[in-house]
Amino acid sequence: SASATEEKVKERSVSVVLLAGGKGKRMGANMPKQYLPLFGQPIALYSFHTFSTMLQVREIVVVCDPSYQDVFQDAKPDHHQVQLKFALPGKERQDSVYSGLQAIDSNSELVCIHDSARPLVLSADVEKVLKDGLLNGAAVLGVPVKATIKEANNESFVVRTLDRKRLWEMQTPQVIKPKLLRKGFELVNREGLEVTDDVSIIEHLKHPVYITEGSYTNIKVTTPDDMILAERILNINSGDT
Ligand code: CTP
Ligand code: MG
Repeated sequence: SASATEEKVKERSVSVVLLAGGKGKRMGANMPKQYLPLFGQPIALYSFHTFSTMLQVREIVVVCDPSYQDVFQDAKPDHHQVQLKFALPGKERQDSVYSGLQAIDSNSELVCIHDSARPLVLSADVEKVLKDGLLNGAAVLGVPVKATIKEANNESFVVRTLDRKRLWEMQTPQVIKPKLLRKGFELVNREGLEVTDDVSIIEHLKHPVYITEGSYTNIKVTTPDDMILAERILNINSGDT
């Protein structure tokens, strides 16, 4: 059973892997979406600053194309307590996670994987998922699905209606103990399994993954209308409606 001390995420015990190695095809902009400005600041710098100011964070490994390292390097001086590292992106998101994992400090107790395309994550929600990750080995932010979700066949006919009460939409961060994640990657690589997110790697190990209830405002900026939505949420959060 977990004692109170085990539940507390220690200072500088977390390695953040900030994923910024995608191309943003669905956004269709002239640069990867994570570098598009929201109120003048690149999307990726929002969560970068959120993590930089958290006491639990030891280091941030930014997985990005080398030509964009300056974006983070130039933002760094305010947060000299947190070490900044870089890793090269891979072909798929999963490959970028693996690359980031190779760069983390061996003393880290938790790895916190975050999509840089989610600029609006709240530090209170990060704190919650870190705590749940430490307690359970793996935890992910998620929100209950609000819509009715139906499964269809190839001809677009309804096959069944899923039980909404049991459906959660996954977000990031996904928080996993480094040893467990390495073990998961070994299995996935050995068996050539395809995974869409990091916790499914852990699911393959038959290890439990806890869902930490997050916030609906933690959207992933994916298509152009998400830019407008993200700026609106920022306005609401700052009380400036
Ligand atoms: N990502 C990454 N390396 C990849 C693919 C994705 O680091 N090979 C990152 C993206 O930069 C993003 C996050 O993973 O922050 C979530 O991926 P997604 O929203 O799909 O971003 P993209 O793959 O860039 O967008 P798209 O699928 O529209 O091309
Ligand atoms: Mg993608």
